[in-house]
Amino acid sequence: MKERSIYEFPEVFRAVHMEEPGDIAEEVDFLQRVWARHLKRPVRRVLDVACGNSPHGQLLVREKIAVTGIDRSPDMIAAGRKEARGLEKLTFYKRNIERFSIPARGFDAAFFMSETFPVMVENADLLDHLRSVARVLRKGGLYCIDIDRHENVEAHGRRKLWRERKVRRGPAPVDVREFLRPIGWQAGAWIYELECAIHFPQRTVMTRDLVPVRYTVPKLLDLAARAAGVFTLIAAYADLSFDTPLDQCDRRWLGVLRRL
Ligand SMILES: C[S@@+](CC[C@H](N)C(=O)[O-])C[C@H]1O[C@@H](n2cnc3c(N)ncnc32)[C@H](O)[C@@H]1O
Repeated sequence: MKERSIYEFPEVFRAVHMEEPGDIAEEVDFLQRVWARHLKRPVRRVLDVACGNSPHGQLLVREKIAVTGIDRSPDMIAAGRKEARGLEKLTFYKRNIERFSIPARGFDAAFFMSETFPVMVENADLLDHLRSVARVLRKGGLYCIDIDRHENVEAHGRRKLWRERKVRRGPAPVDVREFLRPIGWQAGAWIYELECAIHFPQRTVMTRDLVPVRYTVPKLLDLAARAAGVFTLIAAYADLSFDTPLDQCDRRWLGVLRRL
């Protein structure tokens, strides 16, 4: 059976990845609170990095904020354009995140949600990425990056089953299996393998995505910002809260960079 990518099935992807309905609205709300706290001016234009179908952008444009999304997946972008019909302030560009340029400039803020930032495992990619984002941001603008809490990097051993679940929301039931695959200790990274069996009424489609994950903690983001020379790390917030100390972070943290 030919294996495909989950990103070819945007509606299924959303059901597989969305932990709870309402999560995206909560994330958007926290982003707006971060902007209010750290930016002295109103946010009118934002860049959504690795936007997929830009669920965050779809909420923000309803508040009269113009959103530009970049993503490499034509299927995710097509889904976003379809969902955003009638929402003029949401535009998409098909781009790789590692190095990109777009005609638009002068964004007040950028964000990278869904814990995808660590796919950039090479130093050169990370620095080029930060410089690409900085080029389109206003001076003083913010770049908010949502990252999983990483611990216990397993660089040795064999591929192992991490989690297994069934998803019943969405257009078809899906059996999801997630594996962790080690790579060499010197990589400072591992591979997250997402396997889905999507049971459409007439056929079952298998998808498999191999996502590299660089071990990323606030100190690494701080170092990358300094090395790129275009940002400074001004805050790291745990679990969408201003109050939870970082050492009590349960699941994820948000790095906030300011454009120099
Ligand atoms: C987990 S999805 C998140 C999408 C969206 N931000 C959301 O919250 O629903 C990750 C997205 O990153 C995109 N992506 C992954 N690696 C990429 C790369 N190197 N360049 C551009 N897009 C990439 C995928 O196509 C996918 O749409």
